[in-house]
Amino acid sequence: MDQKTIQELSEKITKLKKERNAVILAHFYQRPEVQDVADFIGDSLALSQQAASTDADVIVFCGVHFMAESASILSPGKTVVLPDENAGCPMADMVDAVRLARKKQEIPGATVVCYVNTSADVKAECDIACTSANAVNVVASLPEDRPILFVPDKNLGHYIASKTGRDMILWEGCCNTHDRLTTEDILKAKEEHPEALVMVHPECRPEVVALADKVSSTAGMINFACESEATEFIVGTEKGILHPLNKRCPDKKFYMASERLVCPNMKKTTLDKVYQALVTLEPRVTVSDEIREQSIVCLERMLDVV
Ligand code: 13P
Ligand code: SF4
Repeated sequence: MDQKTIQELSEKITKLKKERNAVILAHFYQRPEVQDVADFIGDSLALSQQAASTDADVIVFCGVHFMAESASILSPGKTVVLPDENAGCPMADMVDAVRLARKKQEIPGATVVCYVNTSADVKAECDIACTSANAVNVVASLPEDRPILFVPDKNLGHYIASKTGRDMILWEGCCNTHDRLTTEDILKAKEEHPEALVMVHPECRPEVVALADKVSSTAGMINFACESEATEFIVGTEKGILHPLNKRCPDKKFYMASERLVCPNMKKTTLDKVYQALVTLEPRVTVSDEIREQSIVCLERMLDVV
């Protein structure tokens, strides 16, 4: 999309957003022009907090389906719109409520912790949720005399277990995008940029995490890079984060650890779809009252731990 079209569409979106009393929330993995038109850009945790506290009538969620669903659970009176209804999260689809209920029967008394990257149906089966930003604190807050079942990201689960020292039963799921990053990618990037610090997301494989100088959520990486005395960084998360990194730390240099770190679902939201979503207030994301009542508990518990 050329600069002129981006500017025209952005102006139309800004005008319509006011008329609709809408707020646009965008994840750091979104396209640069989508992030630029948003009222708030953040990681999964900050976006849920914003969704829970906004007084707008409409939330346009520029992210993936589970994020819009969480917004709908936390803000039941609002209209929640996901500009591309097919923007899902393959990792969230790796666990479903039926299989989880079966697994719970095998481990009676377990505390079930879900990554926020799960459907509302799955959250309804869980005791507490977490995001990558608060996962370690959430697990550390749990009673020590009960086993912990963690779904669905085995890589994040492994990282939390290593930080908290807790025994955790891990579901066999992962983020295809982050799991793609290999130790060879990191070693090659370090060879090319010997002065750079390595930042990776905990959705990466344990052997990749072991090579990093900083392991954190997307927001944590941005804060780390801005506050660090270092001036060069190798980035081990989805490519969209380069936009806020370059904007917030313009004097520093950022290198992708691999060009394959692209989440196709996060890229489905285009500026044009954001505009159409504001015109039609579709596609909407809703959650039934029954599932909402069962799933809100684990999200609220998570927000209490933060
Ligand atoms: P954070 O926003 O918690 O850093 O997570 C990244 C992610 O994969 C969201 O889908
Ligand atoms: Fe899901 Fe991974 Fe894409 Fe995040 S980056 S939405 S976890 S597939």
